Amino acid sequence: MADYPTITEQVEDVQTAREEGHRKMDWAREHMPILTALQADFEADQPFEGQRIGMAMHVEAKTAVLVETLAEAGAEVAVTGCNPLSTHDDVSAALDEHPNISSYAKREVDDEEYYEAIEAVISHEPTITVDDGMDLVAAIHEDYPELIDTIVGGCEETTTGVHRLRAMDADGALEYPVFAVNDTPMKRLFDNVHGTGESSLANIAMTTNLSWAGKNVVVAGYGYCGKGVAKKAAGQNASVVVTEVEPRRALEAHMEGYDVMPMDEAAEIGDVFLTTTGNRDVITADHFEKMNDGVLLANAGHFDIEINLDQLSEMAVSQRDAREGVREYKLEDGRRLNVLAEGRLVNLASPIALGHPVEVMDQSFGVQAACVREMVENSEAYDAGVHDVPDELDKEIAEIKLDAEGIAYDDLTDEQAEYMGSWQHGT
Ligand code: NAI
Repeated sequence: MADYPTITEQVEDVQTAREEGHRKMDWAREHMPILTALQADFEADQPFEGQRIGMAMHVEAKTAVLVETLAEAGAEVAVTGCNPLSTHDDVSAALDEHPNISSYAKREVDDEEYYEAIEAVISHEPTITVDDGMDLVAAIHEDYPELIDTIVGGCEETTTGVHRLRAMDADGALEYPVFAVNDTPMKRLFDNVHGTGESSLANIAMTTNLSWAGKNVVVAGYGYCGKGVAKKAAGQNASVVVTEVEPRRALEAHMEGYDVMPMDEAAEIGDVFLTTTGNRDVITADHFEKMNDGVLLANAGHFDIEINLDQLSEMAVSQRDAREGVREYKLEDGRRLNVLAEGRLVNLASPIALGHPVEVMDQSFGVQAACVREMVENSEAYDAGVHDVPDELDKEIAEIKLDAEGIAYDDLTDEQAEYMGSWQHGT
């Protein structure tokens, strides 16, 4: 096993940390009917007995309920973070207490420690991987290819991870099957849209104590996350400006009533900038040159490369923490540009970040848990490569959720089902 210490060996007062971690998990679990239902089935059936699950995810209370669900299903689980700033150490410590779970996740690790923790997870020789951003899959393929033969499959949580996996698959380099959990409706239409929208805006407001009303909010990227952010910002009485590189998405934003313009122009009028592109260098020196004094810059995309902070650091004559989680860069002409959460996922990496609302993550993680079950039970059905989540499985999660919410919906009649499946009926 790895030399890298679990969180238990890294926190000072482990008992207090565990208690607080369990308290957070209890609250989350109470609002996660999907995982609760799956966990009850899994405890009875023990579907993951003999499996070793390696995970690299944002280790906070909701993820912890997923980790626990997989462990209670009989798996041995090793987990670490997928971002150096998103771990809650108390939750990590609570997880590490479970006899089937080893948690290496710790907040504020440097790059070296971050990758050592990934290696520590891999040292458990996982048979299943669950990633948010593809770091585990990449490390296994690059450094531990001998493990691939015994890996049943994997699941990927986010857009950026799925992009990377599809690129790897297109190169013929992906050597085991992975579910694109991100792309399934029960995840993407709720987590990316509502989750990112609500939690990014909430975290920016909490970190700055500033209002949205009356501000010009520039949303870079009008994909699933950008749509959520734009809608919720407009709902808080901000004027929304969208920047895009994809013509249909730019048009969609225009038809929703937002101003659409290049970042070069938006830079001059924005009060708050929020990147949601999954791309790099979306806001750069040319844009910093044009921005007003006091603007807020934040990122909700997976990696911290959407706002070019190297360029901003070079341009700045001084820097200071204006508030916790707000780094002020002062430029030569006196303008101050404020970067939140070091340009990392603002909803997960700012000082009081809680990530997405619990209900939303219940759906995403319900899909994750069902995908792990599918991979274990029907592994022979999946070749190496990226796979869509089976529709039946996605619907199963929706049905559990509707049932828990007490929402009834209609069934097709036999005639309707027959009509929808036929081509003979015309005018
Ligand atoms: P998406 O692919 O639906 O949307 C991205 C959009 O950005 C596309 O419309 C694309 O055309 C646009 N874009 C790309 N380069 C651009 C540029 N230079 N300027 C303006 N627009 C540009 O992806 P989705 O699902 O919205 O995810 C976006 C990012 O957010 C990914 O990195 C994903 O992993 C991450 N994510 C973050 C979450 C969070 O909790 N903060 C939750 C879910 C996803």
